[in-house]
Amino acid sequence: MPSNLTELFSLDGQVAIITGGTGVLGGAMAHGLAQAGARVGILGRRRERAETVVAEIERAGGEALALPADVMDQVQLESARAAVLDRWGRIDILVNAAGGNVPAATLSPDRRFWDLPREAFAQVFELNLLGTLLPSQIFGAAMIQGRGDEPPHGCIVNISSMAAQRAITRVVGYGAAKAAVDNFTRWLAVELGRSHGAGMRVNAIAPGFFIGEQNRDLLLNADNSLTQRGQTIIDHTPAGRFGEPDELISTLIWLCSPGARFVNGVVVPVDGGFSAFSGV
Ligand SMILES: NC(=O)c1ccc[n+]([C@@H]2O[C@H](COP(=O)([O-])OP(=O)(O)OC[C@H]3O[C@@H](n4cnc5c(N)ncnc54)[C@H](O)[C@@H]3O)[C@@H](O)[C@H]2O)c1
Repeated sequence: MPSNLTELFSLDGQVAIITGGTGVLGGAMAHGLAQAGARVGILGRRRERAETVVAEIERAGGEALALPADVMDQVQLESARAAVLDRWGRIDILVNAAGGNVPAATLSPDRRFWDLPREAFAQVFELNLLGTLLPSQIFGAAMIQGRGDEPPHGCIVNISSMAAQRAITRVVGYGAAKAAVDNFTRWLAVELGRSHGAGMRVNAIAPGFFIGEQNRDLLLNADNSLTQRGQTIIDHTPAGRFGEPDELISTLIWLCSPGARFVNGVVVPVDGGFSAFSGV
């Protein structure tokens, strides 16, 4: 049992992997994990981008490893797991941040619900759900092996979205996929807790609206003023602004830390109040 607040929230000595650690939100969370003392595997499709994040973490005094892999590719994920075990010998934390919307699955005046291509729906659904499930299987399998006499110990944090809980116009496949991620979070929390004990936990963070690579053009005009959609979002966010990527860090650290050892199967909104507001 940790004896003070620092220990309660410390990730010292732990090994974390973050998929999509090359992205806007994943990159910020990767830095946060390293600041809390974890050694961090940065998993992303492009080696150069992963190496850039690794170099930034190392410059800040942390330890990190680039893991080029596609979350939809089992063989590449297994190679990434082997690389982490070879370097650090254990895996304690998995953050599933790879994901997002797919342009072809976004509705518009020219692409109404009736025109939505089945393939585009399947693509966005698979990226967000299977792209969370496969890394959970492959890295989770290393967590449950335990270390010596220690019982299995591990923490998975999935990155969901407000689109899971509220109907967000135009992104039907993305919303369905993130709702499935919420359900999978609860399912896996129950499965791992019952099968492998209280040391195994699975939770999720549901970010509100942050400016990322994928949604920038939907939310901001070229001169950085708000698009109509961006303004509607701000009008429905009691905080009156978009989130800053760094604002996800403290919730992530809390969920991964010894302080959250009795927190399992929850989806925590970090949304400036968006999910609480009826719009009236
Ligand atoms: N930005 C937001 O407002 C927001 C809100 C709610 C939820 N989210 C979720 O947060 C997560 C991160 O989003 P972001 O805004 O930082 O987006 P982003 O595009 O900046 O980052 C996503 C990262 O995932 C990587 N990625 C995508 N497909 C991959 C694959 N098949 N294999 C490996 N890596 C892959 C991308 O290369 C990128 O580095 C996503 O799951 C997204 O759905 C974002």
